[in-house]
Amino acid sequence: MTHLITGNKFDPNTDIPDLSGKIYVVTGGSSGIGFGIVAHILQHNPAKLYLLGKKEEHIQWAQDELKKYGDTSKIVPVQIELEDLHNVDEVAKRLAKELHQLDGLICNAGLGVGVYNETPKDGIDSHMQVNFISQFHLTMVLLPLLQQTANSRLVLQSSDLHRAISDVQFASLAEINRDIGPTMLYNRTKLAQVLFVRAMARRLEKGELGFDANSHTGPWINAVHPGGVSTDQPKQAEDAYGKLASAAVAVLRPLMKDPVDEGCRPALFAATSEDIVKDKVQGQYIVPDRKVTEPSKQAKDEQLQENLWRLTEEILSDKLRSLPYRTQYVDPMAKEGLHGQPAGRQ
Ligand SMILES: NC(=O)c1ccc[n+]([C@@H]2O[C@H](COP(=O)([O-])OP(=O)(O)OC[C@H]3O[C@@H](n4cnc5c(N)ncnc54)[C@H](OP(=O)(O)O)[C@@H]3O)[C@@H](O)[C@H]2O)c1
Repeated sequence: MTHLITGNKFDPNTDIPDLSGKIYVVTGGSSGIGFGIVAHILQHNPAKLYLLGKKEEHIQWAQDELKKYGDTSKIVPVQIELEDLHNVDEVAKRLAKELHQLDGLICNAGLGVGVYNETPKDGIDSHMQVNFISQFHLTMVLLPLLQQTANSRLVLQSSDLHRAISDVQFASLAEINRDIGPTMLYNRTKLAQVLFVRAMARRLEKGELGFDANSHTGPWINAVHPGGVSTDQPKQAEDAYGKLASAAVAVLRPLMKDPVDEGCRPALFAATSEDIVKDKVQGQYIVPDRKVTEPSKQAKDEQLQENLWRLTEEILSDKLRSLPYRTQYVDPMAKEGLHGQPAGRQ
C-alpha cells in the first residue's frame, strides 16, 4: 500500500491531482464536511462540480464562500430534498440526462444523531431515507455514468459509529420505522452505507449490474469515516439529548476537526487520489486521512448486505412505482401480475 511509503497524511491543498476535464457530484455540499469537499475539488480545477444541498440559503452561502477557492462558474448548484423520493428521482434523472461522464459521486449528505421522524411524503424513518435510501436511488440512477467514466469514484460518507449498532436485520419497513433512539437511528444508517459499498463492490467483481468484471478501471467504490468534525451535526445531538449533550459538545467541540482543513480528507482521498487506482482500493472502509481499515463484523455480513439491498429496492419500487434501473429483487406479487405491472425492471 502506497500509504506505508508516504505516511497516512492526505493534504487536500497539495495531494489532490489536477482535475481538469473531470465532473463531480457532491451531496450535502452546502455546509460542513461537504462544503470542504467541494472547496478542495474546486481548488484543483474540475470541469464541473454539481453542489447538491437542501436549503437555498446554505447553497447561496456556499457559492459565495467558494469564490475563495476557485472559479465558481464551474459550480452547478442543485436544490434537492432527500426527504422526498419523487424529488430525488427528478433530480437524479435530470443529472443523468445532463451529464455524459461522471468522475465522482460523493454521497455525503446526512442527518446527524437526532429524534425519530418519518418523512412527510414517503412515511419512512427520516434518518434512513436521507442518509441511505435516497442516496442509494441517486447512485443507481447515475451508476451507468460512473461505469462509462474511466477510474470514476463512488464515495459514501459513513462513520465509525457504524460499529455501534446491534439487532438490525433490514427485514421490513416496519423494522425501519421503529424509534430506536437518536444515536441508534444514526448508527444504523452509517452501517447501511458500509453494507452497500461492500454489496456494490461484490457486484462489480462478479460483473453484475452492468459492471465489466474484467475491467480494472473502476468505478472505485469506498466508504469513509471523517473523524469527529465540528459541523452542524453535534448541534442536532444537542437538540435530541438536551442539556447533557450540550455540555458534552461544549467540552468536545474544541477537540473536533475543522471540516475544510481536515474533515474532508478521507472523502477527498477516496474521490481523487490516484493511489486508489494504483493500490486497487475497492469496497473498502477508509479512516483519516487515508487508512484502509476493517469495518465492523456486521458490515461484512453478506446476508445483511443482501437484506438491505432487497429492502431498499422494495421500498423504492413501492414509493416510486417503477425504477429506471434494473433491480435484483423480484416482488412475487408483481411477478404474478397482482400489482398490475411487473416489478420495475426496465
Ligand atoms: N461531523 C462529524 O463529526 C461526522 C462524523 C462522522 C460522519 N459524518 C458524516 O458526514 C456527513 C456530513 O455531515 P456534516 O457533519 O458535514 O453535517 P452538516 O454540516 O449538518 O451537513 C449536512 C449536509 O447534508 C445536507 N442535508 C441534510 N438533510 C438533507 C436533506 N433532507 N436533503 C438534502 N440535503 C440534506 C445539508 O444540506 P443543508 O445545508 O442545505 O441543510 C448539508 O449540506 C454526514 O453523512 C455525516 O453523517 C460526520
